[in-house]
Amino acid sequence: MTDTLTITQPDDWHLHVRSSEMAQCVIPYTAAQFGRALIMPNLTPPVTTTARALQYREEVLECLPETSGFDPKMAIYLTDRTRVEDVLEASQSEHVLGFKLYPAGATTNSDSGVTKITHLMPIFELMAEKGVVLQVHGEVTDPHVDVFDREAVFIEQVLHPLHNEIPDLKIVLEHITTQQGAEFVSQSDQNIGATITPQHLMYNRNEIFRGGIQPHKYCLPILKREKHRQALVEAAIGGNPSFFLGTDSAPHTRQSKESACGCAGIFSAHAAMEFYTHVFESADALDKLEAFASHNGAGFYGLPINKNKITLKRTDQIIPNQIGIKGLQVPQEIVPLMAGEVLNWSVVR
Ligand code: DOR
Ligand code: ZN
Repeated sequence: MTDTLTITQPDDWHLHVRSSEMAQCVIPYTAAQFGRALIMPNLTPPVTTTARALQYREEVLECLPETSGFDPKMAIYLTDRTRVEDVLEASQSEHVLGFKLYPAGATTNSDSGVTKITHLMPIFELMAEKGVVLQVHGEVTDPHVDVFDREAVFIEQVLHPLHNEIPDLKIVLEHITTQQGAEFVSQSDQNIGATITPQHLMYNRNEIFRGGIQPHKYCLPILKREKHRQALVEAAIGGNPSFFLGTDSAPHTRQSKESACGCAGIFSAHAAMEFYTHVFESADALDKLEAFASHNGAGFYGLPINKNKITLKRTDQIIPNQIGIKGLQVPQEIVPLMAGEVLNWSVVR
């Protein structure tokens, strides 16, 4: 049995860190494990230009000691008003990796998202030409479509036609949750990639209702049936370089989660690598973890792999019940994934 695992430092290719006190609270957790992270732009107001993204990047760096070495990469929020100039500017910054497409209304802070994707074809054409990646929240927003089917319908109605129309556009289908998502990526060429979160690898949809409603297991896209979870595990451990790590760690205060209309989002940055290690070990595939966590995403984005290493040890850790957010007038906290439970791996610090 492997008790110690040393791998190339991983990257988190899908991460929410928010701003101000919340950012100061959560960013050190990610920087303690990952070399880089792709920071999502769904702030209010959203991050819609390169200038704003670079300013936001500075804010992220200010949450860390100068010696941290953490390299935040930025995604810009695509809107109906995104212009050709915005793409050109983004393509010139080494810190900006792409544009995030949120179908309007699909999830947290997506009100400024895209209402008609086909109107943006000239933008997508230019992105393809300039090598700017499109990161996609792949769910249709039609209220008539069942919430558990929204990813599959998006792939069929939007993603497939878009890839056929502009095959040179590099697209990451973020946080895939279904067999259809895994199959679409497996059957596509190297211009299509996908991130997979820890929660979608660990849980099926029963978890949302285990013993009563569990708001801290609610995220979007929502957890799916067991057969989908299994398909995602197969994709993650299968060795196909199109699948890579993206936690979608999305902090919300306890109050906003435990509410009559609770927010979507699961915070996992406190033990992200331990969650993935647990999943890979359960699937008897620890030898596949490094490619998924540390090589494949960098390869997709055309970036070098990290020089540092990290070590994971088979040592129990008890996940805290809550993580306090410092500096607020009224104290608030985050409830981390697996709060109060024991996890059997720990990153060596
Ligand atoms: O669960 C989610 N939370 N899904 C998203 O797409 C957004 C995220 C957030 O920002 O909280
Ligand atoms: Zn996200």
